[in-house]
Amino acid sequence: MLKSRAVLIDQTGGPEVMRLAEVTVGEPGPGEVRIRHHAIGLNFIDVYHRTGLYPLPLPARLGMEGAGVVEAVGPGVDHLAVGDRVAYAAQPPGAYCDVRVMPATNVVRLPEGISFEQGAAMMLKGLTAQYLLKHCRPVESLQPGDWVLLHAAAGGVGLIVCQWARALGLRVIGTAGSDDKCALAVQHGAEVCINYRREDFVARVRELTGGQGVKVVYDSVGKDTWEGSLDCLREFGLMVSFGNASGPVPPFSPGVLGPKGSLYVTRQTLFTHIRTRARTQAMADDLFAAVLSGQVRIHIAQRFALADVRAAHAALEARQTTGSTVLLP
Ligand SMILES: NC(=O)c1ccc[n+]([C@@H]2O[C@H](COP(=O)([O-])OP(=O)(O)OC[C@H]3O[C@@H](n4cnc5c(N)ncnc54)[C@H](OP(=O)(O)O)[C@@H]3O)[C@@H](O)[C@H]2O)c1
Repeated sequence: MLKSRAVLIDQTGGPEVMRLAEVTVGEPGPGEVRIRHHAIGLNFIDVYHRTGLYPLPLPARLGMEGAGVVEAVGPGVDHLAVGDRVAYAAQPPGAYCDVRVMPATNVVRLPEGISFEQGAAMMLKGLTAQYLLKHCRPVESLQPGDWVLLHAAAGGVGLIVCQWARALGLRVIGTAGSDDKCALAVQHGAEVCINYRREDFVARVRELTGGQGVKVVYDSVGKDTWEGSLDCLREFGLMVSFGNASGPVPPFSPGVLGPKGSLYVTRQTLFTHIRTRARTQAMADDLFAAVLSGQVRIHIAQRFALADVRAAHAALEARQTTGSTVLLP
């Protein structure tokens, strides 16, 4: 029987609950493939799984993103072959390992010009950027020259959205937790970046937009930015809530949206968007084209050995990372 190292949790908690264990790996069943990882992506959702904010049946494996080579293909999988270079963002969790069997639906072939590390660093974050920019549209449409607000602009999703939004002609106001992070976001296409640890971002956004506000806010910070984000929107603007890095957004009354300018609010998850293989492939093709054309560069600022996964989680939660982080098996 094939063996693999895999990161497991038996209970929820801090980074210390993760342990590297030896597991057995079988043959792929119908609709499945076996992949040997060359690189694994680190994402904030892995923290939510580990802490229990997004509950998993325990014991659980972690990790939603990876890149590697197909070692075996199960019955009914016709878009992949043994030896293919592939990458994915996919459920169920379990990417933190050397080799795994998983559903093939969200596994796509990696173009020659994209490395395994880039693949592992860009699928979950880049497909998220893809749907945020192409599928979450305000009722008054989004045109080149329009202002948008993006929190955590120097993070993994953030740096990809900054570049892609700029390529689409949008004027991005970023926020980030330090001046160095702000500088990085600006280098990656944000027109302005506000250090929201020391400046009132609402007042600054109002000033930058001539008092009008932005058409869309992309908010993955959650609890700490929710109120302020609503106050940055122009009339009929769209609040796209897609994460909770500072904690979940508390319950709110829809009544508040009227006086603030008849606002729209949505809560999005990538996994609705990549429910089918056809949609996954179309979104991935769009992302690969953006990367291969040079419009979007994948900034891998941290690399950790898989065995050092606890340190990787601690760094992500302590806001010490920028761009993407990969784990190397
Ligand atoms: N719904 C979806 O489809 C989807 C898909 C992918 C990602 N996401 C969400 O998008 C966000 C970004 O994901 P990522 O993996 O690229 O992470 P990331 O942005 O690289 O890291 C999270 C960042 O959030 C900011 N942050 C603000 N308050 C924080 C706090 N109290 N604790 C920790 N971080 C805080 C930090 O940046 P500053 O120091 O600059 O504030 C931190 O670097 C996450 O919220 C994630 O859950 C959602």
